[in-house]
Amino acid sequence: DFRKAAFFQSAPTLATCPPEVGREVAFAGRSNAGKSSAINCLTGNGKLARTSKTPGRTQLINYFQLGDEPLYLVDLPGYGFAKVPLATKKEWDKNLSEYLYERQSLVGLVLLMDIRQPMKEFDTMMLNWAVEREMAVQILLTKADKLKKGPAKSTQFAVQKQLKEANIDDLVSVQLFSSLKKSGVEQLATTLNQWLQP
Ligand code: GTP
Ligand code: MG
Repeated sequence: DFRKAAFFQSAPTLATCPPEVGREVAFAGRSNAGKSSAINCLTGNGKLARTSKTPGRTQLINYFQLGDEPLYLVDLPGYGFAKVPLATKKEWDKNLSEYLYERQSLVGLVLLMDIRQPMKEFDTMMLNWAVEREMAVQILLTKADKLKKGPAKSTQFAVQKQLKEANIDDLVSVQLFSSLKKSGVEQLATTLNQWLQP
């Protein structure tokens, strides 16, 4: 039950994450893509994950536990925060790839992209890492409320086509999402429930 989500722990690196017990799903995406908002929307708790107009708000790996079971939603730091030095960015690439490759309890990745700028370099990098591990990915085209229905749908189809051409459409799905309008939430919840089932 996503409504039972509660803050569990913050970790600056993979090494300081909680023990690899149970199952977790990670939320990744470029800075400001709407990761924290999506977690709040899914859990019905607007104050759970800190959201901000300033990109780079979330700089730690934040764990939220679902009820009493060892099931977690993981809010990853946003990528591409302009004010971060290159060395820090490289450190984060390393951290993220380690997390995606080595985290045993990670069962799926939610990859958020602003619908107005989907499939940027960071997004394809994350996709490649996840697919190499044969991990399921749900792409959320976020802030879908910023586009009219027609253009939103054609963006979704364009991304779907790219996945098909890359031969990864068996592992990777794409859906529209808006935290503002609370749309796409049930579709996301259904996918996450499948992933988190033992
Ligand atoms: P970082 O933690 O900095 O990486 O950002 P984030 O991906 O967690 O983004 P966050 O949820 O903090 O949202 C960033 C900004 O986008 C905020 O100003 C939100 O209000 C806005 N936002 C998030 N989701 C939506 C949405 O569905 N529609 C609209 N219109 N704005 C949104
Ligand atoms: Mg955030």
